[in-house]
Amino acid sequence: MSQPIQFHFRGRIHSVEGAAPTRTILQHLREDLHCIGTKEGCAEGDCGACTVMIGEVKDGKLAFKAVNSCIQLLPALDGRALLTVEDLQQADGSLHPVQQALVACHGSQCGFCTPGFAMSLWALYLALPVAADGTRTAPTRLQIDDALSGNLCRCTGYRPIIDAAQRMCTLAPVTLEQEAMLATLNAMEQAPMHHYAAGGQQFFAPRSLDELIALRAAHPDACMVAGGTDVGLWVTKQFRVLGDLIYIGRVRELQAIVETDAALTIGAGVSLEDAYNAMCGEYPLELSVMRQRFGSVLVRNAGTLGGNVANGSPIGDSMPWLIALGAEVILNGSGGRRGLALEEFYLGYQQKDLRPGEFVEAVRIPTRREHQRFRTYKIAKRFDQDISAVCAAFALTFNGEPTAAGATVVTARIAFGGMAATPARARQAEAALTGQPWSEAVLHAAMAALAQDYVPLSDMRASAAYRMKVAQNLLHRFWLETRAEAPLLPTALDAFAPALPESAA
Ligand code: FAD
Ligand code: FES
Ligand code: FES
Repeated sequence: MSQPIQFHFRGRIHSVEGAAPTRTILQHLREDLHCIGTKEGCAEGDCGACTVMIGEVKDGKLAFKAVNSCIQLLPALDGRALLTVEDLQQADGSLHPVQQALVACHGSQCGFCTPGFAMSLWALYLALPVAADGTRTAPTRLQIDDALSGNLCRCTGYRPIIDAAQRMCTLAPVTLEQEAMLATLNAMEQAPMHHYAAGGQQFFAPRSLDELIALRAAHPDACMVAGGTDVGLWVTKQFRVLGDLIYIGRVRELQAIVETDAALTIGAGVSLEDAYNAMCGEYPLELSVMRQRFGSVLVRNAGTLGGNVANGSPIGDSMPWLIALGAEVILNGSGGRRGLALEEFYLGYQQKDLRPGEFVEAVRIPTRREHQRFRTYKIAKRFDQDISAVCAAFALTFNGEPTAAGATVVTARIAFGGMAATPARARQAEAALTGQPWSEAVLHAAMAALAQDYVPLSDMRASAAYRMKVAQNLLHRFWLETRAEAPLLPTALDAFAPALPESAA
């Protein structure tokens, strides 16, 4: 039987019935509730005008994250809290420090973007460490840039908004009242699987792995939804009719990151932000820039690593480095669990080795190996919020330090995105390196071999010739970064904006 969608909103439980399961949070806010502070700019997660905050219980505490409401499906809010720009104003009518700072710094530049900027700054404000007197530690410039990575301004620029981000922490602090919200969400946490139906379409939100396995077996054609950052666009841009939906964001077992000496296993429900932060613990230099350049913090807060892998776009950013590191995708379903080398999961353009009733349960990534050198590079036109033209990853092991005289390549795993119909390994280039001295001559042989590995396409992002040239140059760059002089390392480190913990207070 269908149950209403229930979430905490404006201090009470808000119930929805009759809305299509693919209705977005933004459509509900603006068109059904007439809460028009939250704006629609692009309806595809690019501009940030629609930014809202979602609150949920994590480890017994409330955690808040800013997301793009234009591509978030409304039923996924069930059991959570929704905060919008209207919630910033204090009960006595006074402005929140975020709003005061935006006014004082002339950061309110246009009516479309300002609500989204305010929400991203609010999420940043909540994530900053709080001193004993209640004041917040001022964010670094890099933390501000990262927090605003999903909010675009095309009229004026970011300087006044960045000033406001610094100013907000100097103003009288304000705390978010959480007691009642936490009690409501805690009570909702106990609810069983959510089943919502409207207009002949069903939305299931199982709570356990067993429930998910049974549901997937019963509805093998249902559309799986994790963070919805790909699926949301099928709704808002392609107007696809999706049929029944199975949402994995509430399956407890899929939210875990399990760390052992040998591997990190990241559940399919773990957000990209949490997954990349965990991976940056193991590979800080190698993955921190990729973390920062993957979409925006708004996309990473909603999207999952499992969704990136399951979607398997040839230009997705995680698959090259996952394949280079030898990651395995863990599949589960009524036929049982199985693990597959990630490169074997991709059979052809948008074709995966996923049997009826199966789903992605987790991704298992080996930890660092001895004498390994690993790098991943993203080539796109913009730093933030852009899709790759080419994405490369190289993981080589050596018989000792690669800088030592006589260094030889023991194993080579190279993978690219943007060079073929799927994310794919460069087997010829790998063969040209394996067992060979790590010399410039061998490097050039491997660069030439890339031309046998791939026949890239020309499209709006890059020409085939550019893609091949840049792929070869990236291999050259990797070689340079393993030299004793390692000229490019400090630059990569400089670009790293340390991740803030999830907004908690
Ligand atoms: P969803 O949208 O929920 O699902 C994606 C696909 O996977 C769907 O086919 C769904 O049915 C399937 N699926 C999800 N979970 C499972 C599962 N457990 N088992 C089986 N099937 C499943 N991608 C990049 O690689 N790099 C970028 O820089 C980038 N930037 C973006 C910027 C914007 C503005 C947007 C909107 C998207 C961007 N993306 C980018 C794409 C997207 O964010 C990623 O692919 C993301 O990882 C998808 O995860 P999700 O949880 O949102 O997946
Ligand atoms: Fe542009 Fe949502 S409306 S990101
Ligand atoms: Fe809206 Fe600049 S603030 S375009």
